[in-house]
Amino acid sequence: MSTPARLHPDATATDLSAWWMPFTHNRLFKGQPRLIESGRGAYYTLAGGRRVFDGLSGLWCSPLGHSPQRVVEAVQRQVATLDFSPSFQMGHPAAFSLAARIAAFAGRPDDKVFFVNSGSEAVDTALKIAVAYHRVRGEASRTRIIGRERAYHGVGMGGISVGGIPANRKMFAPLMIPGVDHLPHTWDPSRMRHSRGQPAWGAHLADELERIVALHDPSNVAAVIVEPMQGSTGVIVPPKGYLERLREICTRHGILLIFDEVITGFGRLGAPFGADALGVRPDLITFAKAVNNATVPLGGVLVSDALYEAFMTGPEHLIEFFHGYTYSGHPLAVAAAHATLDEFEASGLVARARALAPVLEEAIHGLRDEPHVTDVRNLGLAAAIDVAPVAGKPALKAFQVFERALEEGLLARFTGETLALAPPFIATEDEIRGAVEALRRALRAVPQG
Ligand SMILES: Cc1ncc(COP(=O)(O)O)c(C=O)c1O
Repeated sequence: MSTPARLHPDATATDLSAWWMPFTHNRLFKGQPRLIESGRGAYYTLAGGRRVFDGLSGLWCSPLGHSPQRVVEAVQRQVATLDFSPSFQMGHPAAFSLAARIAAFAGRPDDKVFFVNSGSEAVDTALKIAVAYHRVRGEASRTRIIGRERAYHGVGMGGISVGGIPANRKMFAPLMIPGVDHLPHTWDPSRMRHSRGQPAWGAHLADELERIVALHDPSNVAAVIVEPMQGSTGVIVPPKGYLERLREICTRHGILLIFDEVITGFGRLGAPFGADALGVRPDLITFAKAVNNATVPLGGVLVSDALYEAFMTGPEHLIEFFHGYTYSGHPLAVAAAHATLDEFEASGLVARARALAPVLEEAIHGLRDEPHVTDVRNLGLAAAIDVAPVAGKPALKAFQVFERALEEGLLARFTGETLALAPPFIATEDEIRGAVEALRRALRAVPQG
């Protein structure tokens, strides 16, 4: 029997070798591990005892901070009462009440909720619902799906097919679902550098949808999927009027509009969902992450009542939709979500995120003249800076700034040439300003070139 790995400040590569880590430079990491031992509130404690501010709410998923008492106790109670219950042909009451509660939270009280365990599963589920919906209504030719460049929709086969990050796609070309087109992404530094909130330029980029739909004919197009704000790819903020135009084109052609709100759902943009913050109503919404503060994996799809009703035909003893996961509506995940929503209500956390957004905006735009910085952008309680790449070494500069920021007491997120911040909603104004100051010190410490 092998000895279990010990989380130790000077853990060796051998200790860490068995876990093939996701989206990680495994060899570099295991040579210089960055291990987290515990989390409390807005801070993580690293192996060795150093506390760092959690500048990205985990991975955009812990708005309440870590181990909030209400959620911890709810999960503890639940595991002692009902640890698992099958959700195929059986159900437990709290999952039904959670579905109703999430629909109400989203301001879509008639919607139905399909529970899954992750954002990737939520995306693949939404795509399946969209294609199946057209089929059950007798429009079986509507199968094509339109995604967008730079989009991140998780790592399922559906998600990478509609996603637009080349590195996530290039190894898997033969596995992609057929019949997918991509809208252009909306980030153009020459037009929108240093935008505060939504850029004024770029609504016309939505007209590409009209061109793609005309090419295939609307009768072959099932759905368009976009993140209201592209988070993982670096806080790409939709131009004013852009999402409205997508909605209008979809409606005109009978195409479903899916918002992937795995990051923007549950308050990140200062409203319950990004759809509310940006004033556009999609037909389906995917969510995950913050729904239960990421305490136990949970995701889902909000589906408009009309879509659900279209499936509710045929003999009542037959399954209407052949899809689902063993852990859909898992009791622990559901208990954590109820407690998270209790905390959202008790502490007014959506309003708090909205109130903190201008503090983050003001602070982050104060970095625009710092070394390396080529762009600053923000929306809601999310912000990013781009740094000038090291010649011939893409993605190295952001990593250097990230590492230096960690020494300065800030855990940020780096991808490509971007560093992102999305603080927990429980953070104070001073903590947010402090996080940006840590980033400033890191930028100044990293050598030019
Ligand atoms: C918009 C979006 N969709 C889907 C996902 C995938 O979620 P998961 O990692 O839970 O599968 C993410 C993850 O960051 C995301 O940002």
